[in-house]
Amino acid sequence: MAVPRSRGALSVAAAAKNYKITLLPGDGIGPEIMAVAKDILVEVGSQRDIAFDFTECLVGGAAIDATGVPLPPETLATCQASDAVLLAAIGGYKWDTLPADQRPEQGLLGLRAGLGVFANLRPANILPQLIDASSLKREVVEGTDIMVVRELIGGIYFGKPKGFGTDEAGNRTGFNTMVYSVPEIERIARVGFETAKKRSNRLCSVEKSNVLEVSQLWKEIVTKVHQEEYPEVELSHMYVDNAAMQIIRAPTQFDTIVTGNIFGDILSDAASMLTGSIGMLPSAAVGTDGPGLYEPVHGSAPDIAGTDKANPLAQVLSAAMMLRYQFGEEEAAAQMEKAVNDALDEGYRTGDIMSSGCTQVGCKKMGEILMEKIKA
Ligand code: IPM
Ligand code: MG
Repeated sequence: MAVPRSRGALSVAAAAKNYKITLLPGDGIGPEIMAVAKDILVEVGSQRDIAFDFTECLVGGAAIDATGVPLPPETLATCQASDAVLLAAIGGYKWDTLPADQRPEQGLLGLRAGLGVFANLRPANILPQLIDASSLKREVVEGTDIMVVRELIGGIYFGKPKGFGTDEAGNRTGFNTMVYSVPEIERIARVGFETAKKRSNRLCSVEKSNVLEVSQLWKEIVTKVHQEEYPEVELSHMYVDNAAMQIIRAPTQFDTIVTGNIFGDILSDAASMLTGSIGMLPSAAVGTDGPGLYEPVHGSAPDIAGTDKANPLAQVLSAAMMLRYQFGEEEAAAQMEKAVNDALDEGYRTGDIMSSGCTQVGCKKMGEILMEKIKA
């Protein structure tokens, strides 16, 4: 909805849009890349009468160190009460030896579940400037533009029963349950179809229905939603093993992919590498209403934390996704994306996307370059 711009001094405060954002810098390179995104948001906002009301909270390893748990109740409550949540990354070697249920990753899973953000949009599109940074041949990846719609708060990540046990022979076992209900499949299928409609109208549903019952139900329900609600979208089905192979073999055959939680986790990492660096890719996790969760696809890169080597671009692009998807601030989002594009056009690169003839810069410097573009 357009908010009228005000001219009179008295009505400025009333006309200014104010968005409440929870910032979760997390661990590793998180605080460094978040600082860049935050500064840019403030500048982009100030140019168009948008104020951001930021609250910073602890999550992941940082929260474990300070409070003993990866998702303190205040963090979740603050996130739930905000308009959007911008997360950087969580995890690190320091917490790798903790039992699975106490690790930083549980903070992220709890946050996703607590916000009800069941649909994770993970774009993987080739930026022409970075094509030679891809591990695949130019002619294979050129033109790649995939959107993975990953179910985020169900499937094997959350299914019960799960845990450790003992089998009849007395051997220790570990187990998880991959389960989806009809409403869970219907709602993610709808996001898949809606996303495809905004793109090239092609949706590929990925599952493993040749083996798994949960996938047979998935395929049946996606097909039903297609017939009843979206007959105009071109739907195809693919087994996940084949999809993994096809993404590497001929990525341009895909447009929108809809898939379950773990398959989406794996395929989105694979798709990200087509683009040269996982350091470039943003994501949005959204529910039916309420605040979405916006985060880079990459992790916390503890090996380079604190060295000013991190690539802040996926974080900045995640903030742009937030502006677009949560607030409908298309212009502001596009301005941030253009700044990224211009910086790349001028040859600026962080180490992860460096190629010969380019200028290598650190995280802070990349932030300054983006800021110049935004201010220009
Ligand atoms: C991701 C990550 C997370 C996931 C981990 C950190 C819990 O790999 O966002 O893809 O598996 O969802
Ligand atoms: Mg992952």
